[in-house]
Amino acid sequence: MTERLITSDKLEEDNFELSLRPSTLNEYIGQTELKENLNIFMKAATMRDEPLDHVLLYGPPGLGKTTLAYIIANEMGSNIKTASGPSIEKSGDLAAILSTLEPGDVLFIDEIHRIPRFIEEILYPAMEDFTLDIIVGSDSSTRNIRLDLPPFTLVGATTRAGDLTGPLRDRFGIVSRLNYYTIDELTSIVKRTSRVLDCGIDDLASVELATRSRGTPRIANRLFKRVRDYALVMGNGYIDLEITEIALNRLKVDKLGLDDTDYNLLKAIIERFNGGPVGIESIAASIGEEITTIEDVYEPYLLQNGLLKRTPRGRMVTDKAYDHLNMKRAEQ
Ligand SMILES: Nc1ncnc2c1ncn2[C@@H]1O[C@H](COP(=O)(O)OP(=O)(O)OP(=O)(O)O)[C@@H](O)[C@H]1O
Ligand SMILES: [Mg+2]
Repeated sequence: MTERLITSDKLEEDNFELSLRPSTLNEYIGQTELKENLNIFMKAATMRDEPLDHVLLYGPPGLGKTTLAYIIANEMGSNIKTASGPSIEKSGDLAAILSTLEPGDVLFIDEIHRIPRFIEEILYPAMEDFTLDIIVGSDSSTRNIRLDLPPFTLVGATTRAGDLTGPLRDRFGIVSRLNYYTIDELTSIVKRTSRVLDCGIDDLASVELATRSRGTPRIANRLFKRVRDYALVMGNGYIDLEITEIALNRLKVDKLGLDDTDYNLLKAIIERFNGGPVGIESIAASIGEEITTIEDVYEPYLLQNGLLKRTPRGRMVTDKAYDHLNMKRAEQ
């Protein structure tokens, strides 16, 4: 499978994200409500001289969960330690991470829904009472010992909040969902990127880029980089509307930010399933994609944008999608 330019997954080249990543809440654009709440909770924790309550951040890829975790640590004046669900395979892995924590640390666990259930249970007392229960010894003479952990803040991130078990979810005092960004917010992000990368862009071009970025900062930054290449080679390096349109059309990112994969998905439902309703399994089989990829990556934006609808009997393509694809509904 070729890499999708507008994928919100992280690609290799996204390492430039590090410099583009805002490091304070003030610089973090959008997600206003979440930001205001977090700000209060962080101030209150600081006033009480306690670590911030555990935070769960969920939402589609590329919306700024990891960025927020780093901001939380920065704003609390704490060190951050990071881990990710899939890399925690044995209970020892998690115990090892927990035992390195120092008072006030932020422990960021990305893709926290992928921690195996039997390991997850170690987190419960760690989060609730700051204790770590471990089993020492071998077969015949094992015993449980309980270690005290320093107070710390767990920040968990997931694209699939629904996959989290109830007991884990309940142990987060702050549960926040990240939403797709508005065009205005993305326009500000594009302008900020222009300043950070020291590459000029005019207002119309910023809005155009923002409009085609699927509500996702990571995509906005990636498209910015590509358009910057076109501007450099085909123009004088400055990004205007014309060069933006040429670049994005060549890159096959349409006016709504849809690419071939989205077209394939919508067309498959229209052509093979008469517009739906059709089950996600059938869609996945017909376009050769994983169900989870469709659910986590492709579908949320199509749903949000009103091109696709979820019904009890399956997914349905909307009139807006027919119009956008310039296709007609077959007579029933
Ligand atoms: N609010 C924001 N303001 C400015 N830039 C942002 C904002 N949110 C995200 N970005 C940019 O988008 C990039 C992607 O964000 P981030 O890596 O935090 O997403 P994520 O939600 O953790 O994604 P994933 O689910 O794939 O881990 C960041 O490096 C940053 O450049
Ligand atoms: Mg992340």
